[in-house]
Amino acid sequence: MLNDIKRILITEEQLKAKVEELAAKINEDYKEKDPLFIVILKGSFVFAADLFKHIKLKSAIDFMVVSSYASGTESSGNVKILKDVAQSIEGKDVVIIEDIVDTGFTLSNLVKILKERNPASVEICSCVDKPERRVVSVDVKYKGFEVENEFIVGYGLDYAEKYRNLPFIGILKEEVYEK
Ligand code: IMP
Ligand code: MG
Repeated sequence: MLNDIKRILITEEQLKAKVEELAAKINEDYKEKDPLFIVILKGSFVFAADLFKHIKLKSAIDFMVVSSYASGTESSGNVKILKDVAQSIEGKDVVIIEDIVDTGFTLSNLVKILKERNPASVEICSCVDKPERRVVSVDVKYKGFEVENEFIVGYGLDYAEKYRNLPFIGILKEEVYEK
């Protein structure tokens, strides 16, 4: 697997430091509240697990599966809920945990859907942002790293369901896509 990586973009150490920084901000902003964290599977599960360990609030966590990418590197405008949260979010302060904001389709649609359920608030925490690729604007309150317009893998992010288990974020060699 490591042989498929061209370059490491964000190291394990950088990820760890950023996760702690983001958690500290959330702890401070929500100190009077118990927000509900909603993790968008599958890509966010590694980031979410690390982040949640540093959250000092009496918070619940739930999971959603939405489809935006099929299996390759191209985006689609349609977002489908494949698995929903198990509870009502009415009146709750929701923090969405996402792996990456790319075109913005996934999150803009998701925020719209969640807001129709009358939560007290909805904010987004994303590990990575690719601002150059944005098609729909999304307000990301807690943002980890900005990266260039390159397809990245690792730390939960996949290419065709692989490479999620890399402890860093990196770029694949071109020949991997050509296979
Ligand atoms: P968006 O709807 O285009 O913003 O795409 C968001 C989703 O696409 C993310 O949650 C990822 O699952 C996936 N995605 C976008 N860019 C990348 C990338 O560089 N590597 C892996 N997955 C990505
Ligand atoms: Mg994905």
